[in-house]
Amino acid sequence: MGFRIVALAFGLFPARVVIDAGSTEQLHHAGGVMLVMHDKGDFHGMDYISLQAAHVSCVAISYALFVVRGVWMMRGSALLQRRWVRIVPHAVDSVLLASAIALAIMLHQYPFANGWLTAKVAGLLVYIGLGLVALKRGKTRRTRIAAWLAAQAVFFYIVAVAITRSPLPFGG
Ligand code: HEM
Repeated sequence: MGFRIVALAFGLFPARVVIDAGSTEQLHHAGGVMLVMHDKGDFHGMDYISLQAAHVSCVAISYALFVVRGVWMMRGSALLQRRWVRIVPHAVDSVLLASAIALAIMLHQYPFANGWLTAKVAGLLVYIGLGLVALKRGKTRRTRIAAWLAAQAVFFYIVAVAITRSPLPFGG
């Protein structure tokens, strides 16, 4: 039985990785370095880990851009109309969604079949809707700020669902 330790240079959250058909093992965090220990012959986990890293990176960038755009919205800043500000968030969100779909396929778990992924998709739709109200459609400043705050609450719900793989991440 081969025993390998694979160290990765980064990792935001403890994560699971598909080692071979159907089996999952926990990755262990060690001060910003992730260790995978397993005794299977071949290691098929790297693609999954890279994709998950891409997904989580897009999540972080998407959130940061949303928060910053909200602040610019509140200040009435002209920066909101900048060309890159109108394009980059959509590009990041497209990669986020593409990586999400690829991860789901690799995990053999799907929205409407697995509750946590159904919850993520539903959460994503609500997040998008609230984001639209916050940055575009909201009529009053009050409405926009309320939508901006609510969108962030939904965002953290989605993160909690992802980490616990449960549609009820806060117990229930
Ligand atoms: C704003 C939207 C989203 C956020 C904030 C988000 C957040 C996250 C985070 C933080 C992780 C890492 C979890 C971990 O390391 O244990 C993750 C993993 C994952 N996400 Fe997302 N995600 C979003 C959208 C989606 C959507 C729409 C899908 C499904 C269609 C999806 C599918 C997945 C899958 C399959 C994983 C891998 C879970 C694992 O390996 O344990 N994500 N997501």
